[in-house]
Amino acid sequence: MARVIRIVVLYATVSGTAEELAHATAARLAANPARAIEVSNVADFPAARLAEFDAALVIASTWGEGVAPPEAEEFCRTLGGEAPPDLGRLNYAVLALGSSMYPDFCACGKQIDADLARHGAKRLVPRVDCDTKFKADFERWLGAVGARLGDL
Ligand SMILES: Cc1cc2nc3c(=O)[nH]c(=O)nc-3n(C[C@H](O)[C@H](O)[C@H](O)COP(=O)(O)O)c2cc1C
Repeated sequence: MARVIRIVVLYATVSGTAEELAHATAARLAANPARAIEVSNVADFPAARLAEFDAALVIASTWGEGVAPPEAEEFCRTLGGEAPPDLGRLNYAVLALGSSMYPDFCACGKQIDADLARHGAKRLVPRVDCDTKFKADFERWLGAVGARLGDL
């Protein structure tokens, strides 16, 4: 039997868009039975657990003046720190949600993307930054992620 790929789809949200897209992502990717997929709010997910997975797909919105959603602060602080989990085996992709009306467009997703790379995780596909009309960008990101997961 083929190896099962362990995937976690994480979301950081205030008003629910990232959560909705995370569940849509998991539902789409679950069409392949060789994938074990978990969906979680980063608020309920210790960053140390990232090392348990083959791939982490992170969908994160930005709030306030370019900061993480309040519930995501702890996860982002841990990831932004110097004493990280060892992420050398992790593959990842980030979908950043935001609005170009704000000067710090998609800042939270950009920071998560940079921090995961800094800790040695391997970027599966380039980060996609979504403005308020995001459906086409989401589909493009998900299509690219699905194709790359097939290589793991
Ligand atoms: C009060 C407020 C502050 C926001 N601040 C930013 C920001 O600094 N940068 C940005 O790119 N988007 C910002 N946004 C836009 C949100 O990130 C965007 O609407 C996103 O899709 C929300 O996703 P969520 O429903 O998962 O929280 C802000 C939205 C609100 C309502």
